[in-house]
Amino acid sequence: METLRLIVVLIHLVGFAVLFGAWAAQAFGGGRQITRIMDYGLLIAGLAGLALAAPWGIDGELNYVKIGVKLVVLIVIGALLGIGTARQKRDEGVPPVMFWLIGVLTLVNAGLGVLWR
Ligand code: HEM
Repeated sequence: METLRLIVVLIHLVGFAVLFGAWAAQAFGGGRQITRIMDYGLLIAGLAGLALAAPWGIDGELNYVKIGVKLVVLIVIGALLGIGTARQKRDEGVPPVMFWLIGVLTLVNAGLGVLWR
């Protein structure tokens, strides 16, 4: 069971890597666009995160306050991706604050996962 859970943690990390990597490529490659790969990363991290939030009956209690906060942050990132994508389609561009918030909030969720035990 623990091995299976660790595989789900790995998938969760792949989602983080895909989302943050796609964002970083845009942030530091100068594009500053929202891309489909970011949506996929969020989806992978979100699905694996929900699976991790299930009571696996191993290694102690789950921190449901932390999980709730992470879920809210995920929903906000999803809203930003959705609004930004819609604006891009209308050729309105993504406001810088919206673009940077996506990266910052992704890091916040990773930080919550690693630091809040
Ligand atoms: C953008 C979204 C997210 C990112 C980038 C993210 C990132 C991370 C990272 C980096 C870890 C650390 C893994 C480790 O310490 O080995 C983690 C752990 C965790 N995350 Fe997320 N996460 C996200 C969303 C979520 C959501 C939506 C949930 C639940 C609803 C969730 C639940 C968890 C749980 C339960 C852990 C602890 C796993 C463990 O160490 O056993 N995450 N997350």
